[in-house]
Amino acid sequence: TKSENTIIVTGGAGFIGANFVHAALKVGGSTVVNLDKLTYAGNLENLAALADEPRHIFVKGDIGDRQLAAELLRTHRPAAIVNFAAESHVDRSISAPDDFIQTNVVGTFNLLQEARNYWQELQGEAQSAFRFLHVSTDEVYGSLGDDDPPFSETTAYAPNSPYSASKAASDHLVRAFFHTYGLPTLTTNCSNNYGPYQFPEKLIPLVIHNALAEKPIPVYGDGANIRDWLYVTDHCRAILDVLEKGIPGGVYNIGGRSEKTNLDVVHTLCSILDELAPRESGQGYVRLITFVTDRPGHDRRYAIDAAKIEAEIGWQPEETFQSGIRKTVQWYLDHAGWVANVTSGAYRDWIETNYGER
Ligand code: NAD
Ligand code: DAU
Repeated sequence: TKSENTIIVTGGAGFIGANFVHAALKVGGSTVVNLDKLTYAGNLENLAALADEPRHIFVKGDIGDRQLAAELLRTHRPAAIVNFAAESHVDRSISAPDDFIQTNVVGTFNLLQEARNYWQELQGEAQSAFRFLHVSTDEVYGSLGDDDPPFSETTAYAPNSPYSASKAASDHLVRAFFHTYGLPTLTTNCSNNYGPYQFPEKLIPLVIHNALAEKPIPVYGDGANIRDWLYVTDHCRAILDVLEKGIPGGVYNIGGRSEKTNLDVVHTLCSILDELAPRESGQGYVRLITFVTDRPGHDRRYAIDAAKIEAEIGWQPEETFQSGIRKTVQWYLDHAGWVANVTSGAYRDWIETNYGER
């Protein structure tokens, strides 16, 4: 039936969402209804290869629009909702937190309400098979000391930024909808992603972009903060696996056991760039590294214990940091036009030319 084959993906024009839409269409016969507001972070160019794909239906809209959510659910009768839509950048949440509360908290709440109404009307197998998968982050667990064990699914929440607090609030709402109403939810908490289509406000694409533009490479504080890196397609595959095998109400941490200091990441990027895009002058890119004022409330260390998803779902990452980071640098070198568009704002014109208002 239609519902067995259709999923609603929110935020599918963003970095991870777009990678997920590509992955979902590749593995199965599913139809993907992609609901995205097209904020500064949403970019239909990430989905350009799907322009002639009838199984991809793009809808421009806000997850906070309950009428629209209700209409999409009734029209498309999906077997699942996968919620990526969010404001995602920590620094923006510090300077202007309002949209983070609106989208991440209120928007997710609205989607849960409409999902619950829809799910309650389903019957039999369609009702028991329905899933609401909420994509979240390891930042909800706060910051680790050097000797602390990595975050597990039972680590207490301790968010420190407006972004992570808004994600924590949404995770709690998802939890409550399972416990109170029985809505078959799944929550995934993943570590830092990197790879194709990441907006160049985030560390890895920002370093690549600034290095190639001969601009300073800003390192916050002492550069010793630690993040646990996962290649984006490994995250997308984990979500597909959890969707298929996860137990309703379940929480799954996702990570690649790949902790690095920011300085390590920046040095690795500089040396790959020295090799793949050498300067005629022969000068290395490390000379561009510049230490700048630290992010307020900057979490020191994140690390994910992925034992549960490995054992219960049978998921493992395919890329190592070494293989994934090379692929990523190569992707950005091969897609200079994409970077130029997102950094100039010209991609808005591209949307109008290619998709019109929709
Ligand atoms: P992103 O900022 O690249 O993309 C977010 C997408 O959501 C954009 O396409 C944007 O237009 C859309 N959007 C924003 N507000 C919306 C709204 N109100 N209604 C509909 N669409 C809206 O983000 P990302 O890095 O791809 O992250 C996706 C999800 O994964 C987020 O929920 C984030 O918290 C989570 N996550 C991200 C990472 C990471 O490292 N990037 C790691 C773990 C979890
Ligand atoms: O851990 C998962 C989270 O990872 C996601 O939930 C967020 O959506 C995602 O944005 C990311 O958050 P971070 O704050 O870890 O990512 P960001 O790329 O902004 O920064 C990574 C590290 O690099 C962090 O310690 C801050 C530092 N940094 C960042 C930028 C942009 C710099 O030193 N210089 C920079 O210019």
